[in-house]
Amino acid sequence: MITLFLSLILFVTNNQTAEKNENVTKFELVKLPYSTDALEPVISKQTIEFHHGKHLQTYVNNLNNLIQGTKFENANLETIVKESDGAIFNNAGQILNHNLYFTQFSPNGGGKPSGKLAAAIDAAYGSFENFQKEFETAGAGLFGSGWVWLAKDKDGKLSITKEANAGNPLAKGLTPLLGFDVWEHAYYLDYQNRRADHLKELWKIVDWKVVEKRY
Ligand SMILES: [Fe+2]
Repeated sequence: MITLFLSLILFVTNNQTAEKNENVTKFELVKLPYSTDALEPVISKQTIEFHHGKHLQTYVNNLNNLIQGTKFENANLETIVKESDGAIFNNAGQILNHNLYFTQFSPNGGGKPSGKLAAAIDAAYGSFENFQKEFETAGAGLFGSGWVWLAKDKDGKLSITKEANAGNPLAKGLTPLLGFDVWEHAYYLDYQNRRADHLKELWKIVDWKVVEKRY
């Protein structure tokens, strides 16, 4: 009898919550396709826990609060990134950036891309090794917080773009393929001020199959 009563209360409460949130887009924290310690020693469990569980969760919570009552209330993430500015853009951009970032790694990553992406990299940069060098230089040379991206245009032509803060090539009409986060929260616990060393290590965990699919 008591169980039945409690179930009834729970059902009514859940129903009220569901009704209250109806028609409001709720962004959620992206699920990691690996365990939090799987990318060690390139990225420590502690860094993943803070970066994904705290920093990214905060961007998600902020965006869900900020869009309430605005024209972005039911928009998808890409639309918000393309059309917003200020705090909404900053939080939406960071969610999009981190969703791409966390899902492009694998404990079985590393090596080189293959197929069409490999050919496009060779065409644009001469070799994969040259591309890596240019990408690392762009990331290491970015002043302050931001991202370095490999992106493609509508014809499949590749470019490396440096973006400050929450920037994403999507806002320039490009498609982001691979992004390295150069905010200090991405590497400071493991590498302190050695950003260039961190970027060099990241190649060991890039899942090129995922990046190839984006191309
Ligand atoms: Fe980050």
